[in-house]
Amino acid sequence: MVDAPRIGPAIQTRDLTRNFGELVAVDGVDLTVRHGELFSILGPNGAGKTTTIKLLCGLLRPTSGSARVMGHDISENPLAVKQVIAVSPQETAVAEHLSARENLELMAGLHGIERRRARRRAEPLLELMGLAERAGDQARKYSGGMKRRLSIAMALVSDPYVLFLDEPTIGLDPQSRRGMWEYIERLKSRMTIVLTTHYLEEADALADRIAVVDTGRVIARGSPTQLKDGMEGAHATLVEARDLTEDAIEALTAIYPHVRPVDGGVEIDDDNVSLHRIEDCLRPRGVEIVSIRKRQVTLDDVFLELTGKELRE
Ligand SMILES: Nc1ncnc2c1ncn2[C@@H]1O[C@H](COP(=O)(O)OP(=O)(O)O)[C@@H](O)[C@H]1O
Ligand SMILES: [Mg+2]
Repeated sequence: MVDAPRIGPAIQTRDLTRNFGELVAVDGVDLTVRHGELFSILGPNGAGKTTTIKLLCGLLRPTSGSARVMGHDISENPLAVKQVIAVSPQETAVAEHLSARENLELMAGLHGIERRRARRRAEPLLELMGLAERAGDQARKYSGGMKRRLSIAMALVSDPYVLFLDEPTIGLDPQSRRGMWEYIERLKSRMTIVLTTHYLEEADALADRIAVVDTGRVIARGSPTQLKDGMEGAHATLVEARDLTEDAIEALTAIYPHVRPVDGGVEIDDDNVSLHRIEDCLRPRGVEIVSIRKRQVTLDDVFLELTGKELRE
């Protein structure tokens, strides 16, 4: 194992850029990933997530800009980078005719681990990724989720400092996706993890911090909570009401300046609203209140506000 100097953050990119001909796939990306965190790159198809991962793994050369992974420069020292990272690629590569155990031993062999040690290393990884019971079956008989878990176990064989998971739940049904989240949870804080996804709920559920990317650029960053709190109206209260008159809205605006009519009621954009004051204002004016609740901001709202697009499958 080469030195992995804990100098600076786990990953730092500066103006990282990659063109394919005319196309700018990764466009001046500045990212900092801290040691031990799960950092998510969230964005729609074609946003440049896989290209960014390939750059950070030393599989692709940047057109301009730079990055360091565990202190190693990706352009100057790609071999050192490759020795401290591991990747579970978007297109899962497991040998279909081999069992999970054999896939892991093969991978260990590629890392120069001799046979007996490889066996010992495989067992806890099979356990960790929930493959122990089917470890002797050929991988072609596994479900999509199991194959993907095997691909992650294979990435873990080399005991990486930084693990890249490129769209670990792509193509899985919603139930297997949630199952996968539990396995990824198990890996958290054991190592630094960079996870790409186009599923908002996935980044929300797993990430310590997120970079939202679109057309090669980082358009927002922060913890899931910070991203949601930063949204206009993040703390708004939604009052669902019937028979809402102009007069009633005006009276409410006298109490809370930021009242905005929405479908089926009004939204009050204020951190501190009192249920009683709203009722005391509206009821005497003949308004029927259906519900009063805090608005639940989702990362979907954040993405929509940032790009004018919905981030959907
Ligand atoms: N080898 C390549 N040659 C040409 N264009 C590419 C290549 N790889 C990726 N691209 C293009 O770069 C953009 C970003 O792709 P990618 O990084 O795969 O996005 P994501 O992983 O976010 O879906 C896309 O427009 C894609 O078509
Ligand atoms: Mg991709």
